[in-house]
Amino acid sequence: MIRPNITRLKPYRPGKPIDEVKRELGLTDVVKMASNENVLGPSPKAIAAMQRAAAEVWLYPDAECFDLKQALAKKFGYKPENFAIGTGSDEILHLIALAYFNAGDEVVFATPSFVVYESQVHLMDGVPRAVPLQHLKHDLAAMRAAVNAKTKAVFICNPNNPTGTYNTQAEVDAFMDGLPDHVLVVFDEAYYEYVEAADYPRSLRYIEEGRNVIVLRTFSKIYALAGARIGYGIAQEEIIAQLNRVREPFNVNSIAQAGAIASLDDDEQVERTRRMNREGKRYLYAELDKLGLPYAPTEANFIFVDTQRDAQEVFHALLRQGVIVRTGDIFGLPTFIRVTIGTREMNERFIAALKKVLQT
Ligand SMILES: Cc1ncc(COP(=O)(O)O)c(C=O)c1O
Repeated sequence: MIRPNITRLKPYRPGKPIDEVKRELGLTDVVKMASNENVLGPSPKAIAAMQRAAAEVWLYPDAECFDLKQALAKKFGYKPENFAIGTGSDEILHLIALAYFNAGDEVVFATPSFVVYESQVHLMDGVPRAVPLQHLKHDLAAMRAAVNAKTKAVFICNPNNPTGTYNTQAEVDAFMDGLPDHVLVVFDEAYYEYVEAADYPRSLRYIEEGRNVIVLRTFSKIYALAGARIGYGIAQEEIIAQLNRVREPFNVNSIAQAGAIASLDDDEQVERTRRMNREGKRYLYAELDKLGLPYAPTEANFIFVDTQRDAQEVFHALLRQGVIVRTGDIFGLPTFIRVTIGTREMNERFIAALKKVLQT
């Protein structure tokens, strides 16, 4: 009875939760460096706002996310109608699929990249066109070459998850140059606030130019609201209006809305996190260099490391020491692990555990 395309959907495999690892391995002290969460936690202003919102939770949330859209409009200098709010940017990906993908439509994305793109294409009985990364980054020339008359959309994950690599303004400009109008381009910028590279593209410019583009951002990463589930899409009003047609009326809960609004008002929390990430990156690069392990230079809050051995074994050996990471085999790269950059203490613990693993 099941729709045949649904059988092609692989259930999402999330990072292992801390409590599960404690239970299974009888450990008391476990650190999770698997899901690119921000260990510093949300802004105190966001926590206070969410506590206030909890008392009002008997009311349905604002279906239009009015105040949050006002706050985003102010931040970006756009209109509230340029924003779609979702239960995580995951939901915006889902709304894009529901609103735009017909059976048989081709959708281009990179592999390995964020796995949700492919599942959304299968959900709608579309045809995934997965283009391999080159040197662990999007091969935008090959992705452009994969576009044809049947292409409905292209997903560009920048910086890319799981590799942390990015594509430059010049590369993205070359990709966009002369791209046919029937192709919707989705820039997934979940890790945008972590980026340091000077030549990282300003994808919002394409929206300002009236292109068929959606830019995705989230409150799950630097704003540390992953558990509240809230993210957003930015696009021309006409595109946002289509996404609004297919969304559930009360998709974003009131506690998440309150937390997101307050988060936008705390630059210090963002700056503190950036600083931690920058320092953590420097430390981990230096230690990985000493260990002679190759890694992809990252513009996000995680590092993709080639352990040069079976990453599943490395994963389990780290787990036994209370350190949770992700293995690259789920991304088709069986010697890689992806580790979230944490506090100095967490990073040191990861390196100490990794050294032990490499000695055995
Ligand atoms: C590249 C990328 N896009 C989107 C998401 C979804 O984030 P959320 O739904 O929490 O906003 C993630 C989360 O890991 C991600 O890595």
